[in-house]
Amino acid sequence: MDQPKEPRNGKVPFEEDNYTHNIRKNNERLLDRRGFMKTMVGAAGLFAVSTLPWGAIAAQELNGLKQKAYSKLKIADISALQVGDAVEFAYPGEHDSALLVRLGENSYVAYQNACTHLKCPVFWSKEKAELVCPCHHGLFDVKTGAPVAGPPRRPLPEILLSVEKGSIYATGVKRYEA
Ligand code: FES
Repeated sequence: MDQPKEPRNGKVPFEEDNYTHNIRKNNERLLDRRGFMKTMVGAAGLFAVSTLPWGAIAAQELNGLKQKAYSKLKIADISALQVGDAVEFAYPGEHDSALLVRLGENSYVAYQNACTHLKCPVFWSKEKAELVCPCHHGLFDVKTGAPVAGPPRRPLPEILLSVEKGSIYATGVKRYEA
């Protein structure tokens, strides 16, 4: 026998209004997880594919850096440079300021002279035989380019030299080895 239904008061929903009547919870969970995994795999794949060209380009760049070819540039005639003197030049680009120092009769060193702290121009102090950065009292060892005082932590990039027929040439920039 049918039970008499309670009168509706507008607050209790009808049975067919139960919004969960067409959802099987187990399957719903499964779909959720599967959907989530699909999305994740898709996103990871998309990420991998979209970063591929950049990875390839970066690898090429790093390779290129190793084999970077520098032009040869005459810096000065030896006769124009006394032992202990320095001369400024630009290398490898016209805006890459550099410094050549004649340390001895047959001894020369050259560095890019943008300070490795905040890029102030480093100059040669003949009296103290030091490479000096005036901005924050940075000092570099002229024989190695290594920082010896002040805030700089990295050496000045060394410029490779060759001496030919009474002149000094820049032939490359030594790669910075951390
Ligand atoms: S820029 Fe050279 S010490 Fe700061």
